[in-house]
Amino acid sequence: MTQTTELLELATDIAREAGELAARRRRDGVEIAATKSSLADIVTEADREVEVLIRERLIEARPDDGFLGEESAAGGVSEGTSGITWVVDPIDGTVNYAAGIPFYAVSIAAVSGGVDPRTWTTQVGVVAAPATSELFRAARGEGAWLDGRRLAVAERNPAGALIATGFGYDARTHAGDLASLTAAFAYARDMRRMGSAALDLAAVAAGRIDAYFERGLNPWDVAAGELLVTEAGGRFGWISPDGARPMMLAAGPELFGVLADALPV
Ligand code: IPD
Ligand code: CA
Repeated sequence: MTQTTELLELATDIAREAGELAARRRRDGVEIAATKSSLADIVTEADREVEVLIRERLIEARPDDGFLGEESAAGGVSEGTSGITWVVDPIDGTVNYAAGIPFYAVSIAAVSGGVDPRTWTTQVGVVAAPATSELFRAARGEGAWLDGRRLAVAERNPAGALIATGFGYDARTHAGDLASLTAAFAYARDMRRMGSAALDLAAVAAGRIDAYFERGLNPWDVAAGELLVTEAGGRFGWISPDGARPMMLAAGPELFGVLADALPV
C-alpha cells in the first residue's frame, strides 16, 4: 500500500466515525459551549468532542504525525516528526449544526512540507457530510470522488454561474463582503450562502456550483476542499494573499480567471 493510499483510508475511516458521532450528538440536542472571535462565532460541545475523537484515532494510528485542529488551534500546531500534519475541522458549518440545518461536515486533510499553510502541500483530503451520508475524497495526483463517482468541475455555463460565498463573523467586514458580492453578481445566474466552506469547495469539485469565494477563511476550513477542487480539474487560490483577510477563490479554470479579475482584492 502506498503512503497516499494509507493516509486516504485512514482519513476516510476517521471522517466516517467522526461524522456519525456529530450526527448522534445533533440528534441528542446541541449545547453552545462558548463563543470565539465574536458572539456569532460559536463552538458546541460536539465540535470539541469530535475533534478529540479524531485526534485520538490519529495518535493511535500515526503517533509521529503533526496536528492542527480548529478547536485546539489556540494552542498552536502540534508538530510531528514524520513530515505529515493532519489539518482538521471537526464540524465545519457549526452555525448550521447548532441551528439544525443539515449542511455541515467533518473535514480532514493530511499535508506535507511544513505546518505553515503557505508552504504545505495537501496529500489527501476527506469531507464527510453526515446528514446526506456523502463522502468526498481526494488524493494528490489520483483524482477526487464522491463515494465511487469521479468528480469534475462544471463547464462554463452561458446562462451565468451559480456562485457560493460566505461572510466573516465580524460585522465590521460585512460592507467589504457585500462589495465582493456585487462584483461577482455580474457573472452569476444566482448566489448561495450555504454555511460550510468545506462543503462549498466539495460542491465546486462536484460541479454542483460553478464557483465559491470568501475572505478570511482558516486553513482547516479549506485544506481538504482545496485538493477536492484541484483534483476535479478546478483552480483554487488566494487572490489577495497578503491582506489581513485574504480572498479565497475556487472555480473551473476559465471562470477562475474571470472572477479573479472582477473581485475587489
Ligand atoms: C465557518 C464555515 C462558514 C464560513 C466561515 C467559517 P465553522 O466554519 O465554513 O461557511 O463562512 O468563514 O469559519 O466556524 O463553521 O467551522
Ligand atoms: Ca470551519
